[in-house]
Amino acid sequence: MRVPLIAGNWKMYKTAAEAGDFIRQLKTVLTAQLRVEVAVCPPFTALHAAALELAGSRIALGAQNMHWEEEGAYTGEVSPRMLKEAGCRYVILGHSERRQYFHETDQEINKKLKAALKWGLTPIVCVGEKLAEREAGNTIAVVNAQLEGSLAGLAAEELTRLVIAYEPVWAIGTGRTAQPEDAQQVNAFIRSVLTTRGGAAAAGAIRILYGGSVKPDNIASLMAQPDVDGALVGGASLRPDVFAAIVKGGCPGEGNG
Ligand code: 13P
Repeated sequence: MRVPLIAGNWKMYKTAAEAGDFIRQLKTVLTAQLRVEVAVCPPFTALHAAALELAGSRIALGAQNMHWEEEGAYTGEVSPRMLKEAGCRYVILGHSERRQYFHETDQEINKKLKAALKWGLTPIVCVGEKLAEREAGNTIAVVNAQLEGSLAGLAAEELTRLVIAYEPVWAIGTGRTAQPEDAQQVNAFIRSVLTTRGGAAAAGAIRILYGGSVKPDNIASLMAQPDVDGALVGGASLRPDVFAAIVKGGCPGEGNG
C-alpha cells in the first residue's frame, strides 16, 4: 500500500526566519493524523531552521538539489552527507529548472540519485516534457529517455527507495495543470517502465507524484487517479493555509484540527 506524499518545493523562496514562521503556522493547521505524508523542501540556508521547527512533528524535510560527492573542492555545492546531517529525509533531483537553467543531465542526475540512496536520503526524481515535445507527440519518448538515463544501473531494491515526480514543464508555474487523465497516462507509463526494470512488486511500491500548478481545487481529482500517489507543489506550497488545504484535499474524508 503506497502512502501518498505531498511535498512543497519552495524553490528560491523564504529565508530561515520565514521558514520557521511557515512551519509554526503549518503545524497549527495540520494537527490531525493524516493518511498522506507531508514534506517541505526549503532552500539550503533555511534547512537548519526548518529542521528545528519540524522536530517532533510528522512533517518531513527535503532539499532541492545536491552534489553527488560526499565532500570536495566543488565551490557552491552541498553534499548528501551535509543534507543528512541537516535532517533531510528527501532530496529533489533533476527538477526541470535544474535541467533548464543549470544544464543538469540525466547522467549527473543518475550519479546524484545513487549518492542520495547511499546516504539514506529518498530522492524525488523529476521527469517531464516541454510544451513543444508534448505538441510533437513526444511526451512518452521524452519521459522514457529521462527515466532510462537517470535510473541507469539501479537494482530493484534501490528502485523501491525512490519517489518519482512527473512534472510537465508547460504546467510548472503557468496555472495550466495537466488533465487528471493525462497525468494518469504518463504516471502509468512511468510505472510500466519501473515494472520492466524492477518487477511488479517494486514498481507497485514506488510513489509517483504529479507536479505542475497543483492547487487546493485540483488536488483531489489528480489524486483520484490510480497512479498519482501525491503531488510536488511549487507556488501553492508557499502559504501555510493554501498548502494545508492541498494536503487536506489530498486525503478526502479526513477530519482536521
Ligand atoms: P508550480 O506548482 O508553481 O507549478 O511548480 C511546480 C513545481 O515545479 C514543483 O516542483
